[in-house]
Amino acid sequence: MTDGTLLYQGKAKSAYLTDDPDALVLAFRDDTSAFDGEIIEQLAHKGAINNQFNAYIMTLLQDAGIETHFIRRLSSTESLVKRLEMIPVECVVRNRAAGSLVKRLGIEPGLHFTEPLFELFLKNDALHDPMVTEHHVRAFGWATPAELDTMMKLSLRTNTILTQRFSEIGLDLIDFKLEFGRFQGRIVLGDEFSPDGCRLWDQATGEKMDKDRFRQKLGGVIEAYADVARRLGIVIES
Ligand code: TMP
Ligand code: ASP
Repeated sequence: MTDGTLLYQGKAKSAYLTDDPDALVLAFRDDTSAFDGEIIEQLAHKGAINNQFNAYIMTLLQDAGIETHFIRRLSSTESLVKRLEMIPVECVVRNRAAGSLVKRLGIEPGLHFTEPLFELFLKNDALHDPMVTEHHVRAFGWATPAELDTMMKLSLRTNTILTQRFSEIGLDLIDFKLEFGRFQGRIVLGDEFSPDGCRLWDQATGEKMDKDRFRQKLGGVIEAYADVARRLGIVIES
Protein backbone atom coordinates (compact mmCIF):
# COMPACT_ATOMS: atom_id res chain seq x y z
CA MET A 1 0.00 0.00 0.00
CA THR A 2 2.43 2.72 1.16
CA ASP A 3 5.57 2.93 -0.94
CA GLY A 4 7.32 4.25 2.16
CA THR A 5 8.02 7.74 0.81
CA LEU A 6 7.27 10.40 3.37
CA LEU A 7 5.38 13.23 1.65
CA TYR A 8 4.77 15.45 4.64
CA GLN A 9 5.45 15.41 8.36
CA GLY A 10 3.05 17.49 10.42
CA LYS A 11 3.11 18.04 14.19
CA ALA A 12 0.97 14.98 14.97
CA LYS A 13 0.62 13.06 11.68
CA SER A 14 2.81 11.92 8.82
CA ALA A 15 1.58 11.42 5.25
CA TYR A 16 3.10 8.75 2.99
CA LEU A 17 2.75 8.22 -0.75
CA THR A 18 1.08 5.03 -1.98
CA ASP A 19 1.08 3.19 -5.29
CA ASP A 20 -2.14 5.11 -6.09
CA PRO A 21 -1.31 8.76 -6.97
CA ASP A 22 -4.72 9.82 -5.62
CA ALA A 23 -4.29 8.24 -2.18
CA LEU A 24 -2.06 8.72 0.87
CA VAL A 25 -1.47 6.86 4.09
CA LEU A 26 -1.93 9.08 7.15
CA ALA A 27 -0.03 7.87 10.20
CA PHE A 28 -1.21 9.31 13.52
CA ARG A 29 1.72 9.72 15.92
CA ASP A 30 1.80 10.08 19.70
CA ASP A 31 3.35 13.56 19.39
CA THR A 32 1.21 16.20 21.03
CA SER A 33 1.91 19.85 20.40
CA ALA A 34 0.59 23.08 21.80
CA PHE A 35 1.08 26.75 21.08
CA ASP A 36 2.00 26.19 17.43
CA GLY A 37 4.62 23.58 18.13
CA GLU A 38 6.29 25.43 21.03
CA ILE A 39 5.63 22.44 23.31
CA ILE A 40 5.77 18.89 21.97
CA GLU A 41 5.40 15.76 24.08
CA GLN A 42 4.73 12.11 23.41
CA LEU A 43 1.50 10.81 24.90
CA ALA A 44 1.34 7.01 24.72
CA HIS A 45 -1.65 5.65 22.72
CA LYS A 46 -2.71 9.07 21.38
CA GLY A 47 -1.95 8.10 17.77
CA ALA A 48 -4.15 5.00 18.00
CA ILE A 49 -6.97 6.81 19.78
CA ASN A 50 -7.00 9.75 17.37
CA ASN A 51 -6.83 7.54 14.27
CA GLN A 52 -9.80 5.49 15.44
CA PHE A 53 -11.69 8.54 16.71
CA ASN A 54 -11.13 10.29 13.37
CA ALA A 55 -12.31 7.21 11.44
CA TYR A 56 -15.54 7.21 13.46
CA ILE A 57 -16.23 10.95 12.96
CA MET A 58 -15.30 10.99 9.26
CA THR A 59 -17.61 8.02 8.65
CA LEU A 60 -20.42 9.75 10.54
CA LEU A 61 -19.98 12.90 8.42
CA GLN A 62 -19.69 10.90 5.20
CA ASP A 63 -22.94 9.07 6.04
CA ALA A 64 -24.58 12.49 6.51
CA GLY A 65 -23.51 13.52 2.99
CA ILE A 66 -20.31 15.47 3.72
CA GLU A 67 -17.53 14.26 1.44
CA THR A 68 -14.33 13.58 3.39
CA HIS A 69 -10.88 12.34 2.38
CA PHE A 70 -11.24 9.25 4.60
CA ILE A 71 -11.24 5.95 2.65
CA ARG A 72 -10.61 3.33 5.33
CA ARG A 73 -8.60 2.52 8.39
CA LEU A 74 -5.51 0.40 7.68
CA SER A 75 -4.19 -0.30 11.18
CA SER A 76 -4.49 1.00 14.73
CA THR A 77 -2.59 4.19 13.85
CA GLU A 78 -2.94 4.49 10.05
CA SER A 79 -5.70 5.38 7.59
CA LEU A 80 -5.93 5.51 3.82
CA VAL A 81 -7.16 8.90 2.55
CA LYS A 82 -7.73 10.68 -0.74
CA ARG A 83 -4.80 12.91 -1.65
CA LEU A 84 -6.16 16.48 -1.58
CA GLU A 85 -4.64 19.74 -2.73
CA MET A 86 -4.89 21.43 0.66
CA ILE A 87 -6.23 24.96 1.13
CA PRO A 88 -3.92 26.70 3.66
CA VAL A 89 -6.75 28.03 5.77
CA GLU A 90 -8.20 26.67 9.02
CA CYS A 91 -11.97 26.87 9.40
CA VAL A 92 -13.07 27.23 13.02
CA VAL A 93 -16.66 26.97 14.23
CA ARG A 94 -17.49 28.10 17.75
CA ASN A 95 -20.65 27.58 19.80
CA ARG A 96 -19.35 28.99 23.11
CA ALA A 97 -16.46 31.27 24.01
CA ALA A 98 -13.06 29.67 24.72
CA GLY A 99 -9.42 29.86 23.68
CA SER A 100 -8.21 32.61 21.39
CA LEU A 101 -11.66 34.22 21.13
CA VAL A 102 -11.69 34.90 24.87
CA LYS A 103 -8.26 36.54 24.67
CA ARG A 104 -8.95 38.47 21.47
CA LEU A 105 -12.31 39.96 22.44
CA GLY A 106 -12.21 39.83 26.24
CA ILE A 107 -15.31 37.66 26.33
CA GLU A 108 -16.43 35.63 29.35
CA PRO A 109 -15.32 31.97 28.90
CA GLY A 110 -18.29 29.71 28.23
CA LEU A 111 -20.55 32.46 26.88
CA HIS A 112 -23.21 30.98 24.56
CA PHE A 113 -23.65 32.75 21.22
CA THR A 114 -26.95 33.48 19.53
CA GLU A 115 -25.67 31.58 16.49
CA PRO A 116 -22.54 29.54 15.65
CA LEU A 117 -19.54 31.67 14.79
CA PHE A 118 -17.39 30.86 11.72
CA GLU A 119 -13.77 32.10 11.68
CA LEU A 120 -10.81 31.71 9.33
CA PHE A 121 -7.12 31.42 10.24
CA LEU A 122 -4.06 31.23 8.03
CA LYS A 123 -2.29 27.90 8.59
CA ASN A 124 1.17 29.18 9.48
CA ASP A 125 2.81 28.17 12.77
CA ALA A 126 5.66 30.71 12.39
CA LEU A 127 3.06 33.49 12.33
CA HIS A 128 0.94 31.75 15.03
CA ASP A 129 -1.99 31.07 12.68
CA PRO A 130 -3.23 34.68 12.35
CA MET A 131 -6.94 35.28 11.92
CA VAL A 132 -7.91 36.33 8.38
CA THR A 133 -11.19 37.34 6.76
CA GLU A 134 -12.87 35.91 3.69
CA HIS A 135 -11.51 38.89 1.77
CA HIS A 136 -7.91 37.82 2.53
CA VAL A 137 -8.73 34.30 1.37
CA ARG A 138 -10.07 35.64 -1.93
CA ALA A 139 -7.51 38.43 -2.50
CA PHE A 140 -4.54 36.08 -2.01
CA GLY A 141 -6.22 33.41 -4.14
CA TRP A 142 -6.17 30.78 -1.38
CA ALA A 143 -9.71 29.78 -2.36
CA THR A 144 -12.35 31.08 -4.76
CA PRO A 145 -15.55 32.70 -3.45
CA ALA A 146 -17.47 29.53 -4.40
CA GLU A 147 -14.96 27.29 -2.60
CA LEU A 148 -15.06 29.51 0.48
CA ASP A 149 -18.85 29.40 0.50
CA THR A 150 -18.74 25.59 0.34
CA MET A 151 -16.17 25.44 3.17
CA MET A 152 -18.37 27.63 5.35
CA LYS A 153 -21.53 25.64 4.64
CA LEU A 154 -19.80 22.28 5.21
CA SER A 155 -18.26 23.59 8.47
CA LEU A 156 -21.65 24.70 9.77
CA ARG A 157 -23.31 21.40 8.73
CA THR A 158 -20.53 19.52 10.48
CA ASN A 159 -21.27 21.61 13.56
CA THR A 160 -24.96 20.66 13.49
CA ILE A 161 -24.21 16.95 13.09
CA LEU A 162 -21.46 16.78 15.70
CA THR A 163 -23.14 19.05 18.27
CA GLN A 164 -26.06 16.59 18.20
CA ARG A 165 -23.85 13.48 18.40
CA PHE A 166 -21.72 14.79 21.28
CA SER A 167 -24.80 15.99 23.13
CA GLU A 168 -26.16 12.41 23.04
CA ILE A 169 -23.11 11.36 25.09
CA GLY A 170 -23.30 14.27 27.53
CA LEU A 171 -20.69 16.54 25.94
CA ASP A 172 -20.92 20.14 24.73
CA LEU A 173 -19.05 20.80 21.48
CA ILE A 174 -17.56 24.21 22.27
CA ASP A 175 -15.51 24.74 19.09
CA PHE A 176 -13.48 22.87 16.48
CA LYS A 177 -11.14 23.34 13.53
CA LEU A 178 -11.50 21.83 10.05
CA GLU A 179 -9.23 21.86 7.00
CA PHE A 180 -10.41 21.37 3.44
CA GLY A 181 -8.77 20.57 0.12
CA ARG A 182 -9.58 20.05 -3.54
CA PHE A 183 -10.14 16.62 -5.06
CA GLN A 184 -11.16 16.33 -8.73
CA GLY A 185 -12.61 19.85 -8.59
CA ARG A 186 -14.62 19.29 -5.42
CA ILE A 187 -14.09 20.72 -1.92
CA VAL A 188 -13.49 17.78 0.42
CA LEU A 189 -12.96 17.67 4.19
CA GLY A 190 -9.36 16.68 5.01
CA ASP A 191 -6.97 16.55 7.96
CA GLU A 192 -8.59 15.02 11.06
CA PHE A 193 -11.30 15.43 13.63
CA SER A 194 -10.13 14.36 17.08
CA PRO A 195 -9.93 15.82 20.60
CA ASP A 196 -6.67 17.47 19.44
CA GLY A 197 -8.63 19.93 17.30
CA CYS A 198 -11.83 20.59 19.19
CA ARG A 199 -13.11 21.51 22.64
CA LEU A 200 -15.52 19.22 24.45
CA TRP A 201 -16.90 20.01 27.91
CA ASP A 202 -18.75 17.46 30.02
CA GLN A 203 -22.32 18.73 30.40
CA ALA A 204 -22.67 17.35 33.94
CA THR A 205 -19.33 18.35 35.46
CA GLY A 206 -17.96 21.05 33.11
CA GLU A 207 -14.76 19.01 32.86
CA LYS A 208 -12.57 19.61 29.78
CA MET A 209 -12.24 16.46 27.68
CA ASP A 210 -9.91 17.72 24.92
CA LYS A 211 -6.41 19.08 24.21
CA ASP A 212 -6.94 21.97 26.63
CA ARG A 213 -6.01 19.36 29.31
CA PHE A 214 -2.55 19.27 27.68
CA ARG A 215 -2.30 23.02 26.97
CA GLN A 216 -3.31 23.87 30.54
CA LYS A 217 -1.32 21.02 32.14
CA LEU A 218 -4.43 19.55 33.78
CA GLY A 219 -3.22 15.93 33.38
CA GLY A 220 -5.35 12.95 32.37
CA VAL A 221 -5.17 13.89 28.68
CA ILE A 222 -5.28 10.39 27.22
CA GLU A 223 -7.77 9.22 29.84
CA ALA A 224 -10.13 12.01 28.71
CA TYR A 225 -9.70 11.20 24.98
CA ALA A 226 -10.29 7.50 25.72
CA ASP A 227 -13.39 8.30 27.76
CA VAL A 228 -14.91 10.33 24.91
CA ALA A 229 -14.13 7.49 22.48
CA ARG A 230 -15.70 4.93 24.83
CA ARG A 231 -18.86 7.04 25.18
CA LEU A 232 -19.12 7.16 21.37
CA GLY A 233 -18.97 3.36 21.37
CA ILE A 234 -15.50 3.18 19.78
CA VAL A 235 -13.51 0.15 20.96
CA ILE A 236 -9.87 1.21 20.65
CA GLU A 237 -7.52 -1.39 19.16
CA SER A 238 -3.91 -0.96 20.18
P1 TMP B 1 -8.45 28.74 19.27
O1 TMP B 1 -9.38 29.05 20.40
O2 TMP B 1 -7.03 28.51 19.68
O3 TMP B 1 -8.57 29.74 18.14
O4 TMP B 1 -8.92 27.35 18.65
C1 TMP B 1 -10.26 27.11 18.27
C2 TMP B 1 -10.44 25.62 18.03
O5 TMP B 1 -9.72 25.19 16.89
C3 TMP B 1 -9.95 24.75 19.18
O6 TMP B 1 -10.83 23.65 19.33
C4 TMP B 1 -8.58 24.27 18.74
C5 TMP B 1 -8.70 24.27 17.25
N1 TMP B 1 -7.46 24.64 16.57
C6 TMP B 1 -6.56 23.67 16.21
O7 TMP B 1 -6.81 22.48 16.41
N2 TMP B 1 -5.40 24.03 15.60
C7 TMP B 1 -5.10 25.31 15.33
O8 TMP B 1 -4.03 25.57 14.77
C8 TMP B 1 -6.06 26.33 15.69
C9 TMP B 1 -5.78 27.79 15.42
C10 TMP B 1 -7.20 25.95 16.32
N1 ASP C 1 -2.38 22.80 16.84
C1 ASP C 1 -1.55 23.89 17.27
C2 ASP C 1 -0.26 23.35 17.88
O1 ASP C 1 -0.08 22.40 18.18
C3 ASP C 1 -2.23 24.81 18.21
C4 ASP C 1 -2.66 24.19 19.50
O2 ASP C 1 -3.24 23.14 19.49
O3 ASP C 1 -2.43 24.79 20.57
O4 ASP C 1 0.71 23.81 18.17
